[in-house]
Amino acid sequence: MNLILLTSVDSTNNYLQELSEKGLAEEGTIVLSLEQSKGKGQRGSDWESKPGFGLYVSILLKPKDWAVEKQYILNKAVAVGVAWYIDSKTDKDVRIKWPNDILIAEKKVAGILIENVIRGEMVSSVVAGIGINLNQNDFTREFETPATSLKIVTGKNFDPETEAVELFREVWKAYCQIIAGESETMEEHYSHYLFKRGERALFIKGEGLFYGVLKSVDSSGAALIEENGRTIRATHPGTRFYLRDKRFRN
Ligand code: BTN
Repeated sequence: MNLILLTSVDSTNNYLQELSEKGLAEEGTIVLSLEQSKGKGQRGSDWESKPGFGLYVSILLKPKDWAVEKQYILNKAVAVGVAWYIDSKTDKDVRIKWPNDILIAEKKVAGILIENVIRGEMVSSVVAGIGINLNQNDFTREFETPATSLKIVTGKNFDPETEAVELFREVWKAYCQIIAGESETMEEHYSHYLFKRGERALFIKGEGLFYGVLKSVDSSGAALIEENGRTIRATHPGTRFYLRDKRFRN
């Protein structure tokens, strides 16, 4: 592990990507910033990154001879590593909400933004950006998935540097498993943590809502959802869980 600690940066993902492009970062480099001025979330959203509240890190992975078709297992491994880390902090129910949000008792505690560099048919490098809600006492903003923090769940305060090292260990452990050829085992870990797997749940697609049962997430990251006796292959964010309005919850 090679830890780079910054007090402030636009985005740890951007910073690590630039270092990597210049050949200045080795695999296993982790960038931790105490705040981000332009923290990036999924689908072009922003990730609030004030100092003292969250953990903002990016980890560089450079799998050798890794074909593009196998890229999604890298996402799954990172999500499992983050889930292992979160699970070590609480006795409450920890889940991975497809595709890769981490929930404690149905509330989002961590988000993951994976940015891959593809060369030809191969994955050349992966910047795994991870944001964890550490010390927030409450959330004023409304999110699609209700939010929580490790502080809310445990009553304790968390030091970003200590947590970054622990988080890295878990993500690295998961990554090493797939590099060692244990992708099947990783699929099992992902499936174990998969939120609402095998349960009836409400999904949103376009303007419409439908009930379905999430069976699994395939090797390209699509969800296989059983609806009225047929299985549909759904991609994110076109189809996603609908968690916000409790009137519609099953
Ligand atoms: C999400 O929208 O759920 C993904 C959030 C990812 C946020 C992290 S914070 C560290 C890293 N740097 C960024 O700019 N984004 C990721």
